[in-house]
Amino acid sequence: MCGIFAYINYLVPRDRKFILDCLIKGLQRLEYRGYDSAGIAFDGGNESPDVIKKPETKIVKKKGKVRALEEELACEKDMKLDIEYDIHCGIAHTRWATHGAPCAINSHPQRSDVNNEFVVVHNGIVTNYRDIKKVLESKDYVFESETDTEVIAKLCKYVYDHRENEDMSFRELVEVVIAQLEGAFALCFKSIHYPSQCVGTRRGSPLLIGVKTKGNLSSNFVPILYRDNRGREFQDDVAYNREGTDSAFKRSFSTTDFEVSGDIKAAEYFFASDASAIIEHTNRVIYLEDDDVAAVMDGCLSIHRMKKEEGESMSREVQTLKMEIQQIMKGNYQYFMQKEIFEQPESVINTMRGRVNFKDKEVILGGLQDHLSEIHRCRRLLFIACGTSYHSAIATRQLLEELTELPVVVELASDFLDRRTPIFRDDICFFISQSGETADTLNALRYCKKRGALTVGITNTVGSSISRETTCGVHINAGPEIGVASTKAYTSQFISLVMFGLVMNQDRISTRSRRNEIIEALENLPNLIKEVLEMDDDIKKLAEELYEQKSILLMGRGFNYATCLEGALKIKELTYLHSEGILAGELKHGPLALVDKAMPVIMIIMKDSMYTKCQNALHEVTARGCAPILICQKGDTESQSKASRVIELPGTVDCLQGILCVIPLQLLAFHTAVLRGYDVDCPRNLAKSVTVE
Ligand code: G6P
Repeated sequence: MCGIFAYINYLVPRDRKFILDCLIKGLQRLEYRGYDSAGIAFDGGNESPDVIKKPETKIVKKKGKVRALEEELACEKDMKLDIEYDIHCGIAHTRWATHGAPCAINSHPQRSDVNNEFVVVHNGIVTNYRDIKKVLESKDYVFESETDTEVIAKLCKYVYDHRENEDMSFRELVEVVIAQLEGAFALCFKSIHYPSQCVGTRRGSPLLIGVKTKGNLSSNFVPILYRDNRGREFQDDVAYNREGTDSAFKRSFSTTDFEVSGDIKAAEYFFASDASAIIEHTNRVIYLEDDDVAAVMDGCLSIHRMKKEEGESMSREVQTLKMEIQQIMKGNYQYFMQKEIFEQPESVINTMRGRVNFKDKEVILGGLQDHLSEIHRCRRLLFIACGTSYHSAIATRQLLEELTELPVVVELASDFLDRRTPIFRDDICFFISQSGETADTLNALRYCKKRGALTVGITNTVGSSISRETTCGVHINAGPEIGVASTKAYTSQFISLVMFGLVMNQDRISTRSRRNEIIEALENLPNLIKEVLEMDDDIKKLAEELYEQKSILLMGRGFNYATCLEGALKIKELTYLHSEGILAGELKHGPLALVDKAMPVIMIIMKDSMYTKCQNALHEVTARGCAPILICQKGDTESQSKASRVIELPGTVDCLQGILCVIPLQLLAFHTAVLRGYDVDCPRNLAKSVTVE
């Protein structure tokens, strides 16, 4: 989906080249989210900022990759790159088309008018943009793009041109504008009327601010300014970068690096929709909440809210990102997805770290601890998610039923909402989402919350909307996942759900041996994953045999039905081949008609309670002339005799086998896509984080 990045330097002199590079780099860090065009806005003109008479904003936009935008910038031969700015604001965006085709004119920044008086970048969708557009058109505003975003820029100009108070601040202007907007958004604004200032705000779409100051921060909290019912502004306007909290702000001080007269330190701010664009600059970030309006002016950051809700927190904490820059770099790998597949021995350990005590065979999920008795008393457990995250719930459903002895319902978030599924106060609703921002999952969460259910988040993104809006939850700690197709997040979600099952089962004596068996298998799992990853060359050879096929079917049942669904999704997403995950028990009810000698079939047969039934399916397939590729347990000669090719895996406990079985399929999809010449990390038409319904 779309990505926002903005860079503001205050009393940190930067030349234009540095600023442009910084904006481009920020966009590159967001590339993994999926996009089809990109653009930036920065101070234009070739005059030195000291002598500039009329501020200018230059916009450069381009369809395609950030690389294409970079090339476009390089073509601007007349643009001086060595002009130095003590103070500057640049905004940037990668767009994933929703309203209007991908092209330069529909890319962001969108502008208010030909003079670029106000420019804006936007993630999300403004649902009432047609009404606003109609009003503005009736006032002779001429629209140039097909986007919903353009109304925001034009509305800024309208509000500015009609302001009664000459001193209206940029932040106040944005507050008036967003009060007119419906839908979901994260926005960043720049204007020639407010040079070097930046305003950012969000509603339903993430936005965070990285803070880099010279010297120590005066406080870890940014107090918020708000208005009461009568529109009076309250005093907590303690700008973040000012020393002290006195309202006069008349202090002067110096730092070791700068002699600054006045009251402001040198500072740099980074607005972004995603922490991965910020981490290389600073690990100090503030996550904005819905309807926060953050403004950087004269080097100070202040956050304001239009109104104060009962019991609402009136400060935003400056948090320290735990992410390391290496985590979002490719390292020795050619692709992020490849790196993430190979990270799984460690990512699963990180998911279990501090939670599974292998010695005492105990599992503790700190995030759920206070709510366990309520969860035990529930009517049913619902697991709601999209895509791969949904598959992680399917993969663990059987075990959760077994360990909790509760009804377990697994729902696709979009369908769950479409059906307006009945939810009760004594339901426990889990929302599984790598990004924590998927619109359907988030909407399902709000739907369940409204109906009084206890909500639990299973996410990989600390500070994401789902992790913030759920009552409690589990962070899967898989580390940043950049490749659009989810891999390590799946195995970590899987383990998180297994751990939840174990927590629920902790006090039951009758199932102790089963629980111990699972915990022992969890301990050994990282080693087994490593063993599977060593088969990479064999899987690559298999991909070489398969990559020119048109279709691939995957069959399995029981604990490995989800593996088939997930494997087929990986193949579809990355290779654009048709692929279907088929429940082997359903074979006779239709899919068998697809099977013949020519149809590539992958069958998963493991030595678990489904073994005999899977053997039956194997017979049904081979009787139609098909010699399937078999994923089976080491030494299973009976199954192997009927296969064209065999991927032999180490065995583990039945309910964790799906983790080992999915890895060859991740690798197969990856190698096949590379052989077909496709962009593995950013498959066509897809986005990492789907923030629209
Ligand atoms: C998109 C991604 C998938 C992901 C799904 C759910 O479709 O391409 O890889 O599984 O969203 O995302 P979430 O962040 O909620 O897990």
